[in-house]
Amino acid sequence: MTANELRSKYIEFFKSKNHVEISGKSVIPENDPTVLFTTAGMHPLVPYLMGEPHPAGNRLTDYQKCIRTGDIDSVGDTSHLTCFEMLGNWSLGDYFKDESIRWSYEFLTNSKWLGIDPSRLSVTVFAGEDGIPRDDVSANIWKELGIPSERIHFLPREDNWWGPAGETGPCGPDTEIFYDTGDPSKPEDFKQGCSKGRYIEIWNNVFMQYNKDTEGNYNKLERQCVDTGMGIERTVAMLQGKKSVYETEVFQPMIKKVEELTGATYGTNSEKDCSIRIICDHIRAATFIIGDPKGVLPSNVGAGYVLRRLIRRAVRHGRKLGLDKAFLGDIAEVVIANFAIAYPELEEKKDFILTELLREENKFLETLKKGEAEFDKLLPNLMRNPQKVIPGRVAFRLYDTFGFPIEITQELAAEKGFSVDVEGFKEAEKKHQELSRTQSAGTFKGGLADHSEITTRYHTATHLLQQALVQVLGDHVGQKGSNITAERLRFDFTHGAPMTKEEIQKVEDIVNEQITRDLPVTMEVIDIEDAQKAGGIALFGEKYEQKVKVYSVGDFSKEVCGGPHVEHTGLIGKFKIQKEQSSSAGVRRIRAVLE
Ligand code: SER
Repeated sequence: MTANELRSKYIEFFKSKNHVEISGKSVIPENDPTVLFTTAGMHPLVPYLMGEPHPAGNRLTDYQKCIRTGDIDSVGDTSHLTCFEMLGNWSLGDYFKDESIRWSYEFLTNSKWLGIDPSRLSVTVFAGEDGIPRDDVSANIWKELGIPSERIHFLPREDNWWGPAGETGPCGPDTEIFYDTGDPSKPEDFKQGCSKGRYIEIWNNVFMQYNKDTEGNYNKLERQCVDTGMGIERTVAMLQGKKSVYETEVFQPMIKKVEELTGATYGTNSEKDCSIRIICDHIRAATFIIGDPKGVLPSNVGAGYVLRRLIRRAVRHGRKLGLDKAFLGDIAEVVIANFAIAYPELEEKKDFILTELLREENKFLETLKKGEAEFDKLLPNLMRNPQKVIPGRVAFRLYDTFGFPIEITQELAAEKGFSVDVEGFKEAEKKHQELSRTQSAGTFKGGLADHSEITTRYHTATHLLQQALVQVLGDHVGQKGSNITAERLRFDFTHGAPMTKEEIQKVEDIVNEQITRDLPVTMEVIDIEDAQKAGGIALFGEKYEQKVKVYSVGDFSKEVCGGPHVEHTGLIGKFKIQKEQSSSAGVRRIRAVLE
């Protein structure tokens, strides 16, 4: 079974259980300043798990691109990925443990669906901790389905608890389903088997019952929800009997392309294999990030910085394989061809993706050239060092000032018979990080800020700003991106010229006028086609569900949006534009605060 087949089977199965398919969301989360990327399938559903009504109903299913970069340094082995797809099904206060577990079992074992031999399945269940009881209910359902007690493992919170996705939010005990890649007639200690890669987790059913608040308390949620997640790459590898995700058709076409470009043969040299895997994983991630409906571009901050690191690391490993010309576009084209069926936006944005990758790649190649020149300048001085060691702070300066990766400094040093003081480099890096962490700590306070009162106020203010801009500048103004933290809002929009002082003042006045009018904010759920036909409703170039929520601010603004919003504009506070500047060609950026 291919990844494409698994994706459609999963969705078809849950549709047959009365779930509505919703489209996956952007890999860049909106209004969640605590994380840079969407890290799980449930992430975009947090407001609904917390109680907001979802316009598509209470039983939902989808597939979602996710990015997790916490393990970026482990990528290159046969299992870690920075970018993966997750299948999920959700109950928003509808079914709970019974249906959730029975359906998972049916989908996995029934020959109409995945047809897995049940003797290969083991499960884990929450053992109980901190006054939250052991989950016998789930264990008994598994038993009724025929999983013997010796394959039902009760594990503590450390293993069998999921969430929240950010610092606060919905979470709860889970039951995880594992596939046995060994001989089921010869079981071994479960935890040991897991660590050796014998038992592989393929699905996680979370029973969302608590909301972790900013003080760290677990408060019972008003309604119990289910959040399940199945990783596509891993499950497909398992179904195909492959030892690694890289052996499946998800990665093989990319690997073939690298082989073609470099003359290397995958599977013959472990160091080269590692570089090939890094290139494939990172370029798939980079293509998904740039090609996303709310995509970002390489930069020195936030998600843009992670993207830059992914691209540069791929370039560096290309060089290790002997590539010294731009090659990322060739790999990205393979990704686009392979995934356009699930993400048509990749095909639509193909030229854009290829251009931006090439721009960053050339920039980095230029950086490497400059770094090499700088290195040559340092050389006479370094030569005087009898130990033939390049001090850590020198390596760090090359890295920090010229973006010159330590591995390249090491390569060049080795050519001259030098080594690099890596420990010293790490120390210099750590000092630097501590400094910048202290500086940026302010950005991250406030927890999962989309639920806090202040970000809700900013969110409604953004709607007012959008409409005020249309009134002052004209109908060509379209939203290109919006980002809210507890300290400010940022809004990108299409407009060809800097705004004049008068225009900025006018926009500010209009927004404040709507706040003074204390307009009611109301929500209705309507059909997307009606929304498109109606006119006068702000829609953004993204995929929508069949039913969408439309938020109206009095008679002033109407936008398709997921919420949440304040109940009336009087709650917003005084609106002030701090900055208006260019964001990219034809796009302006406003930064505004509430006082
Ligand atoms: N939230 C859970 C996970 O990410 C299930 O979707 O594993």
